Amino acid sequence: MLTPENLYEKASETARFLLDKTGGKVPEYGIVLGSGLGSLTEDIDIESEIPYAEIPNFPVSTVEGHKGTLIFGTLSGKYVMAMSGRFHYYEGYSMYEVTFPQRVMKLMGINKLIVSNASGGVNKTFQIGDVMIIRDHINFFPEHPLRGKNDPRFGPRFVNMSEPYSKKMIAVVEDYAKAHKIFYRKGVYLGLQGPTFETIAEYNMVRVMGADAVGMSTVPEVIVAKHMNMEVFGISVITDVDDPELIQSVNHEEVMKEARKAEPVVRELVRALVARY
Ligand code: HPA
Repeated sequence: MLTPENLYEKASETARFLLDKTGGKVPEYGIVLGSGLGSLTEDIDIESEIPYAEIPNFPVSTVEGHKGTLIFGTLSGKYVMAMSGRFHYYEGYSMYEVTFPQRVMKLMGINKLIVSNASGGVNKTFQIGDVMIIRDHINFFPEHPLRGKNDPRFGPRFVNMSEPYSKKMIAVVEDYAKAHKIFYRKGVYLGLQGPTFETIAEYNMVRVMGADAVGMSTVPEVIVAKHMNMEVFGISVITDVDDPELIQSVNHEEVMKEARKAEPVVRELVRALVARY
């Protein structure tokens, strides 16, 4: 079991195992392939792929539509490590398990993280299929990933969250999108534990609280990355909107279908970021 007391040793052990596999090569980026970015693997010149089950201390992914493998290879000329499949809190993992891969990334020497997800749009101007650059988040998970004894080898007890998503990375992507006439949104992502989709009243609550989109992942990973002073870029595909008519159809299959449709745009923006930053 992962605890704040053994996390550093466990993550170090896993980092050593993975660096052994790469022959000591340190990836420049860690990428979490959520719904909407799964096929980014097609853009990666894959060098090796390791199932989570073979990685010491790694939890195993269970959710439908998510595979559990770690991919090493070259994307836009840079060596990257991509997680095909993430760990969601609603699956029953502890927060230490959910965010374990980010701990491992940092201990491998990775300082840049890209996270992607599918989310429900609550901003009234948003439409299904929109791609949203995450500019900030609201943590509404019932448990905090940094709760418990702090290990200063990772970072400070009290973490500054004034820039969870790198302004520089956002600028690079926005410049590219504008130059290539790619339509995008920019907004605030609110993370809830799920696994239920929100009621109409809950979507309203999310909007009133100041978010543009809501989902069930990402926020814990980003908090832990910021604890370790990583630079983060986040991108979300709006797969449903809280229109009372449309909302009735929201289900996992719809979410995956809409996310897949937007994948080419997300992939292009991520390739552009990795190439330029
Ligand atoms: N709510 C929460 N998570 C989601 C949604 C949603 O509407 N869409 C995709 N993931």
